[in-house]
Amino acid sequence: MTSAHVAPRLDRRPEWAALSDHRKRFGDTHMRDLFAADPGRGQRYSVRVGDLYLDYSKHLINDETLGLLRELAAAADVVGLRDAMFRGEKINITEDRAVLHTALRAPRHAVIEVDGENVVPGVHAVLDKMAAFADQVRAGAWIGHTGKPIRNVVNIGIGGSDLGPEMAYEALRTFAPRDLTVRFVSNVDGANLYEAVRDLDAAETLFIVASKTFTTIETITNATTARTWLLGQLRAGQEAVAKHFVALSTNAEQVEAFGIDTANMFEFWDWVGGRYSYDSAIGLSLMIAIGPDQFRAMLDGFHLVDEHFRTAPPEENAPMLLGLLGVWYGAFFDAQSHAVLPYSHYLSKFTAYLQQLDMESNGKSVDRSGQPVDWQTGPIVWGTPGTNGQHAYYQLIHQGTKTIPADFVGFTAPSCALPEAFAGAHDLLMANFFAQTQALAFGKTPDEVRAEGVPEELVPHKTFRGNHPTTTILATRLTPHVLGQLIALYEHKVFVQGAVWNIDSFDQWGVELGKVLAKRLEPVLENGAEAELDTSTAALIARYRAGRGR
Ligand code: F6P
Repeated sequence: MTSAHVAPRLDRRPEWAALSDHRKRFGDTHMRDLFAADPGRGQRYSVRVGDLYLDYSKHLINDETLGLLRELAAAADVVGLRDAMFRGEKINITEDRAVLHTALRAPRHAVIEVDGENVVPGVHAVLDKMAAFADQVRAGAWIGHTGKPIRNVVNIGIGGSDLGPEMAYEALRTFAPRDLTVRFVSNVDGANLYEAVRDLDAAETLFIVASKTFTTIETITNATTARTWLLGQLRAGQEAVAKHFVALSTNAEQVEAFGIDTANMFEFWDWVGGRYSYDSAIGLSLMIAIGPDQFRAMLDGFHLVDEHFRTAPPEENAPMLLGLLGVWYGAFFDAQSHAVLPYSHYLSKFTAYLQQLDMESNGKSVDRSGQPVDWQTGPIVWGTPGTNGQHAYYQLIHQGTKTIPADFVGFTAPSCALPEAFAGAHDLLMANFFAQTQALAFGKTPDEVRAEGVPEELVPHKTFRGNHPTTTILATRLTPHVLGQLIALYEHKVFVQGAVWNIDSFDQWGVELGKVLAKRLEPVLENGAEAELDTSTAALIARYRAGRGR
């Protein structure tokens, strides 16, 4: 384990103390007053990156806040760590790995070295192989074991090997041919796979087994069941696997052991973290759905924001700004959570995807040198597409007791494929989008409520405190290029926060214990194997076994 970039404790830095003092002075300053004092605030606190326009004016900040946050970032050497990441240094210190998802979208001519080897040609070789395969499937030229062309694609993976491709497929499904069925199976609950395949013709079905390690128990279990189902349906032997199973992995040995020909394996590398991987081979299902050209447009979108993050000065650097705002609220407003509220039906899986990206990356409580941190790290990320949330949990954001910074993500134009009759509601959708951030920021004072003739006893109930911080991300249209920009924006925001908090954002040891215990408990459930159990778990398992008639 290298000790590069191990920094002094964050909360002992003078820049931290300066922010803490500033927070005290900031007190209950209201956004109403901040806007009244600065007529240019709405334009000034905005930044444009590619097709994204970010308005961060509705935040509990002023110029001094931003300056102090940038000083904190400078003291934490966020830029140094960023440059080390782009150079391919092994900044994932606990796993001694480079962190190079940015190489997945680098142009062909780029040179990015890991251990002295330029990784870019390998990236493009895999992209080309994926494109050739995707084109074949899309053209009906990839023929199944019985001679029928493939019309159904089922991705089997979990975590980063599922959330990314599924989120992006849902987001971009208007770019996919509607007669191609694309489904995603992740849960080890057999119901997930059953529901995904029960109405499919096995002869027309391709399974994509997506697993970086190819040892993840859920994925291997589902892939094994899928193979049994397929061979049973086709009344075929192992020879049918080659036409109906491909693998996306870093682990050729395990792929072969499963029975998939490594010629049908699409490779990626240990410097791609699972939650940063859907623009690698893990995106094959998406590429089949939207086609190689659109997939490449998406990669270009990622790259555009990578370049912005790498080169823009801190005061105009969108991921830097978003990251620092999150640091501000976590540390000095005790914000525990962060809502991401996309105003697009097609972004139904966007927040779920960001949950893994953010919470698996920054859900850490020791710093890079292993010392416990004494400051908030990653927030609880949550949210669902608007306007549905408005009729469910927005009440708590508006009038509850918690500080919940929120991102509102919306689009100027409705999705490309929406027929006119259906696109008509876009103005109404977006009117809600703008209205919510307005209401959250400015609220409604008791006097305003009284002026409406509301009886005095109801005034407190109908008052809106306001002052709830939001970022508005207004994009042009939900295209592959724009989706790539959005995801890269969030990837780098998470990076900035991890760098300031001085944690390793690229490992995920916290998922291991549960895996080990589940493995140990399985035989206890199945055949009552002896195990030393706490009394709670022992009683629960006894009840479970009795329910199963064991
Ligand atoms: O258990 C967590 C995790 O390792 C994630 O980080 C990863 O995305 C997921 O499992 C799936 O891993 P794999 O792609 O190796 O099956």
